[in-house]
Formats: sequence, structure tokens, C-alpha cells
Amino acid sequence: METPLPKATQKRQVTAIIILLLLWEVGGAVIKYSVLEERHSGSFVANLAKDLGLGLGELASRGARILSKGNKQHLQVEHKSGNLLLKEKLDREELCGDMDPCILHFQVLLKNPVQFIQGELQLQDVNDHAPEFLENEILLKISESSHTGAAFPLKIAQDLDVGSNTVQNYTISTNFHFHLFTRNRSDGRKYPELVLAKELDREEQPELRLTLTALDGGSPPKTGTSQVLIMVLDINDNAPEFARQLYEVQIPENSPIGSLVITVSARDLDAGTHGELSYSFFQSSNQVIQAFEINTVTGDIRLKKMLDFEEIRSYRMEIEASDGGGLSGKCTVAIEVTDVNDNAPELTMSLLMNDIPENTPDTVVAIFGISDPDAGDNGKMMCYIQDHLPFLLKISVENFYTLVTEGALDRESRAEYNITITVTDMGTPRLKTEHNITVLVSDVNDNAPAFTQTSY
Ligand SMILES: *[C@@H]1O[C@H](CO)[C@@H](O)[C@H](O)[C@H]1NC(C)=O
Ligand SMILES: *[C@@H]1O[C@H](CO)[C@@H](O)[C@H](O)[C@H]1NC(C)=O
Ligand SMILES: *[C@@H]1O[C@H](CO)[C@@H](O)[C@H](O)[C@H]1NC(C)=O
Ligand SMILES: *[C@@H]1O[C@H](CO)[C@@H](O)[C@H](O)[C@H]1NC(C)=O
Repeated sequence: METPLPKATQKRQVTAIIILLLLWEVGGAVIKYSVLEERHSGSFVANLAKDLGLGLGELASRGARILSKGNKQHLQVEHKSGNLLLKEKLDREELCGDMDPCILHFQVLLKNPVQFIQGELQLQDVNDHAPEFLENEILLKISESSHTGAAFPLKIAQDLDVGSNTVQNYTISTNFHFHLFTRNRSDGRKYPELVLAKELDREEQPELRLTLTALDGGSPPKTGTSQVLIMVLDINDNAPEFARQLYEVQIPENSPIGSLVITVSARDLDAGTHGELSYSFFQSSNQVIQAFEINTVTGDIRLKKMLDFEEIRSYRMEIEASDGGGLSGKCTVAIEVTDVNDNAPELTMSLLMNDIPENTPDTVVAIFGISDPDAGDNGKMMCYIQDHLPFLLKISVENFYTLVTEGALDRESRAEYNITITVTDMGTPRLKTEHNITVLVSDVNDNAPAFTQTSY
């Protein structure tokens, strides 16, 4: 498909991009040429005859040949015109790789007389490769505790070209947290470095996805991209926090052992062990520890023994929630034990006269106290004896009663009384206590002997 261009045009075109350095050294000549890579075969390199000072036809007559190491022939001589041409398309990346400059050595062999001329062909780079990252995604783990200014070097992009045609600059997609700088390595290559501009917060944004672009120095530049996935690592920057500062609860004193009293709950925004909570009593009294237990995982507080309102009416305890990283939060639980009418009134006899003389009114038969440890109506009491008995209950001081005879008793009409003192409370259900006493009426000589018949 290549139609040869007129010589003059071809020559002018190629000369423009050729730098010719002709050096005549002490032991011989070194001719130096330069040509762009990727030019098609047959492209003009230089007029060899002219550069060697040979007349037309002299190249042919002296059998000029190009020699090079190995069998690879990159150049050929056109005897008729004396031109040095490319024998094949040359790929700088294949022939020289990273080596810069890329120089191919050759010799020109002439006969009659035999003469070797050293030659160097420098292959100039063309920006025919784009930067390329080895990985499509670069994973970066950054702790949320990192301070602004912290630098995170990223992987370099490869570009097979050399010099200014290789990677010159890196950019990152717009974001709030990072700036990107292009740094120089000691070997001259450029690498990207992320610099934290605004501190990260895992609880707010656990990961960021950015696009990293590498640009080479071509015009326009060729580019290559890679995704940067930034995972923000948690630090234990959140202490556990209870839903409430104070939990208040009432529980009847007769609740069975194992009853759920209340469930406390805290939350911790951190992840993993930093967010795993464990509940415990904090500096609690023996009374609390004996009566309650807490589930370290669920925060359930349960009864460990029967409560007794009459003994302890309320408990107050501090609960601590600790996370796996050593931070903790606290709350207070106030437990009020509510009374259940579980105590019957009690009667304590202080004085009891089992034997009372007849005919003496207002005689003290018994003195007793009553009590009920329950609260409220459960502890309010009433005290009475049976009706139709010649005895009276008198209240002396609060909860102290005196049982007295109402009038003079007459042994001869009734010598024995069974008295039931009943004490009830006003609770629900009503509880009562009975106390039975027996009173004997003793004889006083109040009757003169009498005949059943006045006359016999
Ligand atoms: C790199 O590219 C950015 C964006 O195109 C540009 O602002 C910056 O000046 C370039 N840096 C260099 C050293 O070329
Ligand atoms: C990196 O190298 C370029 C030349 O390759 C130079 O202009 C630039 O100042 C250097 N930058 C640093 C930070 O050394
Ligand atoms: C009193 O009670 C006793 C036994 O509890 C009984 O033997 C007696 O008959 C009772 N007396 C009266 C007057 O009910
Ligand atoms: C008291 O006496 C009454 C009547 O005799 C009887 O029903 C009751 O059981 C007695 N109570 C006690 C505690 O002995």
C-alpha cells in the first residue's frame, strides 16, 4: 500500500525529524543517526554516500553492506541513491524497553579497500502507549484517627514509553477528604500520594471511592485510571451511651425469683469489638448484689431472691456498659419495692389477768399491743371483741389497748368468759389475727347463806 513518494519530498519530510551527527574519530568514523520509532519500512534515514564522502556509484562498486550484531538487520543501503533506509518498522519499546536513549549499533562494510565504519541509530520515542495501572482497584485502609496532612503513597502507573512520554502527572476525582500530589521517586519516576485534608469519620462515611488518573506528557496526554477504595478503619472513638440516664421501676415484693425487673440498654456507634457491649453492676452494695443479677449481654436485670418491702423499700444501683475497647457509660436504676399485704397483724400481750374478782367494775383484764409491718391500708388495723360481753376495749396510746370489765361481774351467774380479741388490717385481702383468752370470775363472799325454803 505504500506508494513511494518522490525522492525530494520524502527526503525533506524525513530530514526534518533527523538529527545527524557525524563524528570522525581517531581510529575511524562513527556516524550517528536518529529516527522516530514506528516509521514504516523503507523510510529514509540518511544519505549514507554523502555522509561518507563517497561519490555516486561508489557504494555499489565497493559492495557496501550494513552489518549488525546477530541477524537482525534494521537498516539497508540503497546502492543506486546512496540512501540508508529502514528495513522494517522499529518498535522502541520492543528493542530497548526502559533504556533511554535507545541506540542501535551497526557497521558499514566497504571493500577495496576494506573499511569498517561504526554507526549508531538512535530510536526516538513516540507516545504510543497510555499509562496503565496494574490493578483496577487499589484498596487502602485508613484509620479514622489519621490526622490531616497524613500521606498515603499509592501504586505507580506503568507507561511503556520513556522520557516525557511516560507518566508525568496524577489526578484524583473531586472529594472532600483528600488532595493528590505527584511526587518524584529517586529513580525519576512519578508516583501519586494522597494527603488527608479533612479528617475521616467512620461513623459518618465508612468508605470512599475515588478515581485515580495517571497522565503522560504527550499532547494531548494519554491517560490510565484505577479506582481507589478507601476503607475507613474504626477506632474506639465512641463510648457506650445508655438510652436513659435513670431507669425507674416498681416491683411488688412478692415477685418470684427470676422475675425480670427491667432491661437496660446502651448503644455504641463503633464497629466490631469497639461496639460490643457488656453490662455489669458498678460499685454496687451487697444488698443489690444479693438481690439482683444482670445479664452481661442483654442487660436484663432479674431477681435473685425474694424481696421484702418491710426490710428494704428501694434499691438504687449504677449499671456500667463497657465496650471492647475499654470505654464505658453508666446509668442509674432505681427500684421501688411495692408493698403486698403479706403480714397479718400481730398481738403482743403485755398483761393478762386470768382471774378477776366479781363485783369489781373497771377491772383491767389485759393490756396488749398490736402491730402490722405492712404499709398504707395494708398496715392499718382494727381491733374488737365479740358483742354482748361485759368487757370493753379501750385504746390507751396508739396501737395499745386495755381490756376492762364493763360492770361488776357476778360469778354466780357466769363464772367463765371465753374472749376472742380479733385484729384485722385494712389491706386487700384483709388479714386478721385472733387471740383467745379465758377469764375466770373468782368468788367474793357476797351471799349470806339462804335457805331454799323459809319454813320446813
Ligand atoms: C497535573 O494535572 C492537573 C490537572 O490537570 C493540573 O492542574 C496540574 O497542573 C498538573 N501538574 C503538572 C505538574 O503537570
Ligand atoms: C520532580 O521532578 C521534576 C522534573 O522531573 C521537577 O521539575 C520537580 O521540581 C520535582 N519535584 C520535586 C518535588 O522534587
Ligand atoms: C371456753 O372454752 C373452753 C375450751 O376452749 C370450753 O371448754 C368452755 O366450755 C368454754 N366456755 C364457755 C363459757 O363457752
Ligand atoms: C378462739 O375461739 C373461737 C371460738 O371458740 C375459735 O373459733 C377459734 O378457733 C379460737 N382461736 C384460737 C386461735 O384458738
